[in-house]
Amino acid sequence: MRPSFSSFLLTFLFGLLLQRGIFGARFRGVKEQAWSPPRGWNSYDSFCWTVSEEEFLQNARLVAQHLRTHGYEYVVVDYLWYRRKVNGAGVDSLGFDVIDEWGRMIPDPDRWPSSRGGKGFSEVAEIVHGMGLKFGIHVMRGMSTQAFNANTPILDITTGKAYEENGQKWLAKDVGIKERACAWMKHGFMGVNSTSGAGRAFLRSLYQQYADWGVDFVKHDCVFGDDLDLDEISYVSKVLSELNHSVLYSLSPGTSVTPAMAKSVSGLVDMYRITGDDWDTWGDVTSHFDISRDFSAADMIGAQGLHGKSWPDLDMLPLGWLTNPGSNEGPHRKCNLNIDEQRTQMTLWSIAKSPLMFGGDMRQLDYATFKIIINPILLEINSFSSNNKEFPCITSQNGFEIKDQSLSEAHTLGLTSCHDSKARGWSARATGFDLEQVCWKGNSSEPENEPFCLYKKLPLLLTDVDMRYKHHYDGKVHLLETGRFESCLDASPNQKLTSKEFKRGSFSTCRWDANQMWQLNANGTLANSYSGLCASMNTIKVNSGKNGIRAWTATGRNGEIYVAFFNLNPSNVVISMKISDLGEALPGEHFGNAYALCKCREEWSGKDFGVVKESLSIEVDTHGCALFVLNCS
Ligand SMILES: *[C@@H]1O[C@H](CO)[C@@H](O)[C@H](O)[C@H]1NC(C)=O
Ligand SMILES: *[C@@H]1O[C@H](CO)[C@@H](O)[C@H](O)[C@H]1NC(C)=O
Ligand SMILES: *[C@@H]1O[C@H](CO)[C@@H](O)[C@H](O)[C@H]1NC(C)=O
Ligand SMILES: *[C@@H]1O[C@H](CO)[C@@H](O)[C@H](O)[C@H]1NC(C)=O
Repeated sequence: MRPSFSSFLLTFLFGLLLQRGIFGARFRGVKEQAWSPPRGWNSYDSFCWTVSEEEFLQNARLVAQHLRTHGYEYVVVDYLWYRRKVNGAGVDSLGFDVIDEWGRMIPDPDRWPSSRGGKGFSEVAEIVHGMGLKFGIHVMRGMSTQAFNANTPILDITTGKAYEENGQKWLAKDVGIKERACAWMKHGFMGVNSTSGAGRAFLRSLYQQYADWGVDFVKHDCVFGDDLDLDEISYVSKVLSELNHSVLYSLSPGTSVTPAMAKSVSGLVDMYRITGDDWDTWGDVTSHFDISRDFSAADMIGAQGLHGKSWPDLDMLPLGWLTNPGSNEGPHRKCNLNIDEQRTQMTLWSIAKSPLMFGGDMRQLDYATFKIIINPILLEINSFSSNNKEFPCITSQNGFEIKDQSLSEAHTLGLTSCHDSKARGWSARATGFDLEQVCWKGNSSEPENEPFCLYKKLPLLLTDVDMRYKHHYDGKVHLLETGRFESCLDASPNQKLTSKEFKRGSFSTCRWDANQMWQLNANGTLANSYSGLCASMNTIKVNSGKNGIRAWTATGRNGEIYVAFFNLNPSNVVISMKISDLGEALPGEHFGNAYALCKCREEWSGKDFGVVKESLSIEVDTHGCALFVLNCS
């Protein structure tokens, strides 16, 4: 069809408005934006940190050939591309990183030969762009310990010379904050003072260089979740927003993120992780249901972002041919999820509108995995559906509703914004011995519960190095797990944990370290010095095996309705729903009307259900799912 004159006029006017910046200065570069969840490939699940230029480009070429037409457009090099792959190097080793004269990370020339001669990733980016793809890299918080130790000067990109203030040259040690070492990579990276001019100049010198290389996507690690550094995120976001080409901004990981915490960053970024690392275990898949539900209920899916919208990220898809977390070895094993579990993962990720980043080695991609990650209905749902949310009105075979079923409760220690009223509930109490405790009484409407208590202790004696930070910690305490052992509460795990593990809270040997320093405020909040976040106890409801059924709904761009049923139980279950209950879930739809007729098809089996009028029912295999597409009149 030829575009009519009026649609031409509209397009023209819209273009004019964009040019004039009516939609805000940040839309100047209108080309690459995050209007739908970003999609691509990432090297972490199959190579951990060890990927080489050759392996990366082989994967990129296959993404271009087989996945690009399905919307997979970013290819991302995950962490430690600057670390030399030699004996002794690993994910938390010190002294193997390649840095330039300004303390910036540059690719390991042995793994990334095209980077020699100061070219960084520019040749790789150019090759990737030539394939019709976009190029992404992973970066860590702040500054590397190596740059700090070498006390390198800081590049002022506006002058091309060393950064100076009032004739004074600033060096790495003036801006690196050693006691804010990344909690899960203590030897590798630390925060920088991003409120100082020199700290900002340093960050700007990094991100301007990435942009100069032709990078289109940065995955910024150890600044969010337990490791929140809002100053650094805000400043990096500002630098990216001022670039002449869009560099998508992704935060990772999101250990113990709450919607309240995410609200402080969602407008600054394009996507942000809401879980710890996801790997190919069934426990990791199931741990994403509650958090996805909570983020959709808080209207965070597709909230305003840096370049368009922002997307809560459930992490990569560890399907196909993989390696292990923290490994020094490349891809060598098959995914541990069975086909039903893989479909469940892909269906939840799609209907919750998570970015889809495939993690398997493209060179060993099997047909079954390929069919799952290119499923056209799921990709349509992922890009274009709306009103995505958990749908509680389903029943299992025995006929009782999920909302009436008894759920077992578990308590987990989490972190949240100190302004969040849920963080209030801590108080000190004497134990009768010399020790004092800090206890969570939480909601006093449940007085029968034993409070959760930790032992309070002043920080350990100082070493000379620690003295430098002493003034930061006046009035702060260590919190011990028991009265006797020197095991202190960490605000952030000191290893990168998978989403199943992070629920525990984390204790380790007491140290003089910002992530073990706590302050009890008069209003009952317990604030941490590392991230500035406050501790809270969350009660999570755990579905016992019998009632582990879940459902999600969404509306399609052509008026169709999607319903996904998930069976998290260890046996097959018949799951049912009433069509009329969709009315409450989907605004503007009128299913209360007894005449609503829906044509219905189930996607994974391909089964046509014909016209359904009152209810929908299907037996779902253990750990499997059903995905219905309904067209109702
Ligand atoms: C960061 O820099 C600002 C401005 O120079 C200074 O006031 C502040 O004390 C510094 N913060 C830390 C943690 O060093
Ligand atoms: C962006 O482009 C404009 C005009 O071409 C140029 O003046 C400016 O320096 C560029 N900004 C950056 C950050 O590269
Ligand atoms: C509690 O007090 C702290 C410190 O005064 C403040 O930052 C925080 O916003 C307060 N939180 C609540 C929930 O009242
Ligand atoms: C305490 O529990 C009551 C009843 O369960 C609830 O209405 C209230 O919101 C809770 N308060 C907090 C601070 O969680």
